[in-house]
Amino acid sequence: MKNTAFNSDNNFDALYPEHIRQLSMKHWTPLNVAIKAADFLAAPQVRILDIGSGAGKFCLAAAYHHSDILFCGVEQRQELVHQAEKIQQKTQISNARFTHANITEVNFKEFDHFYYYNSFFENIDVQNAIDDTIEISMDLYRYYIQYLFVALQQKCAGTKLVTFQSLEQEIPPNYKLVGTAYGKLLKMWIKES
Ligand SMILES: C[S@@+](CC[C@H](N)C(=O)[O-])C[C@H]1O[C@@H](n2cnc3c(N)ncnc32)[C@H](O)[C@@H]1O
Repeated sequence: MKNTAFNSDNNFDALYPEHIRQLSMKHWTPLNVAIKAADFLAAPQVRILDIGSGAGKFCLAAAYHHSDILFCGVEQRQELVHQAEKIQQKTQISNARFTHANITEVNFKEFDHFYYYNSFFENIDVQNAIDDTIEISMDLYRYYIQYLFVALQQKCAGTKLVTFQSLEQEIPPNYKLVGTAYGKLLKMWIKES
């Protein structure tokens, strides 16, 4: 079934209430970027996690284009999980799941490949806050980055990672850069050993 919500960012973002829509340009993955990332991550039977899934845009776009693969998102803001689930219902996407949790509560063993849109940067970004619920703290930023670094390091060879606008501090050295797109804002990595 053709779903016009996925025809353009404007169409998709129009599904959100105004205050979530206004965040889209800076905080939610554009549809063309989501497709490129999903095409790289998708393979039969894999489980894919969006680390900080926000209002669900990456997972839903990826799930629409790869209807046989499950895309999961973990998100620390309950309201954004709620918004993601509302859009999921509206667009009738069945192969996406959203969990309200902090990334430190996730069992990385349950997932094969990962998408990361610089989620922890908000802990040191004083200019583009989603809201005022998150502490601005270099220590917290470093904590999350280190947490993700270790979690990614523990994954097996062949694990795929896509980063968007990342500072790359969370990427262990044994992840090899295998592709870039969108002026190198989007990077594709595979764990070598
Ligand atoms: C840049 S947005 C990306 C949203 C989504 N991945 C997308 O591409 O549309 C990053 C999201 O990560 C979430 N986030 C940041 N730190 C997190 C943490 N420690 N645990 C769970 N979610 C987190 C934020 O609340 C925000 O919604």
